[in-house]
Amino acid sequence: MDSCLRRNDKIMSTKLTDLLNIKYPIIQAPMFLVSNVEMVKEAMKCGIAGCIPALNYRTLEELKAALKELKAAKVEGGSFGFNLIVNKSNIKYKSQLEIICEEGCDFIITSLGNPKETIEEAHKRGIKVFCDVVDYTYAQKVESLGADAIIAVNNEAGGHRGALSPKDLITELVSKCNIPIISAGGVGTKADVDKMLSYGAAGVSVGSPFIASVEANVTDEYKQACVDYGANDIVMTERISGTPCAVINTPYVQKVGTKATWLESILNKHKKLKKWVKMVRFGIGMRATEKAAKEVTYKTVWVAGPSIEHTRAILPVKAIVEKLI
Ligand SMILES: Cc1cc2nc3c(=O)[nH]c(=O)nc-3n(C[C@H](O)[C@H](O)[C@H](O)COP(=O)(O)O)c2cc1C
Repeated sequence: MDSCLRRNDKIMSTKLTDLLNIKYPIIQAPMFLVSNVEMVKEAMKCGIAGCIPALNYRTLEELKAALKELKAAKVEGGSFGFNLIVNKSNIKYKSQLEIICEEGCDFIITSLGNPKETIEEAHKRGIKVFCDVVDYTYAQKVESLGADAIIAVNNEAGGHRGALSPKDLITELVSKCNIPIISAGGVGTKADVDKMLSYGAAGVSVGSPFIASVEANVTDEYKQACVDYGANDIVMTERISGTPCAVINTPYVQKVGTKATWLESILNKHKKLKKWVKMVRFGIGMRATEKAAKEVTYKTVWVAGPSIEHTRAILPVKAIVEKLI
């Protein structure tokens, strides 16, 4: 049977499984440069959802082709979505939203910025919208705008993370919000999934453990680093986007440091210049991250979170999902 699901598998039911009609309350999280159609196809076969950042496609035609391929590959019990950066840094936002709504998918995860327009347009097409948040203030806002669920990004997540622990963030949001809370960050095993559900989460969004998947679009060096390094090797760096980002503390990261340069720190305080400094830093950081993910280079800036602790080998998506269910 070409699926992780065996006939007698117990199928879990939570608000997330109900929302997306999936077998297990797990989303394979969107990861810039890493996520791709192959990973999401495998995720769907396993009875979970998968999500890809729209920005992983250089052109709108490529994005359209990915949507078509996933629609054709969709299987019962699986679900797919796309991640949209909804603030001004994403100059393709409007056209990405248009194509996603035109082609259709099950859900959109919004990050950064105001998701109002995305929620309105997606809902016209029956597409659910989940919004990344790191605190209650923002959660309240996206709930009032009509979000279908909240992705609660905690302080154990890979990439850009929140400041609150999984327990603190989930319990606060569950007690104050009326829509499902999906926990993102720090999940590498079934015990972690169960823990987040026990705090009241409707499901989990899991990124870092899927970097070392056979299907991921990154170099074997990056994948192997997720096997070789562990939770204690994750550090926060300001040198990718200006905003702290979780990366593996490789010798290169140690050499260049994790703080903004003195010049950036000074310019960041300048009222008029700080916006441009951020943009330049973002551009340089993104190019460096892309190079490290896709090519063999000594400049090893590898984005990942502490949940790589449980990554012991480069495995197919199917085997990684099996560890979580
Ligand atoms: C390599 C990497 C790239 C990421 N890229 C994105 C992204 O493009 N958009 C987004 O909303 N979240 C992004 N994230 C965050 C994930 O969607 C998710 O919230 C996070 O991975 C959860 O924490 P975990 O890594 O401990 O599972 C990224 C995370 C990683 C590790």
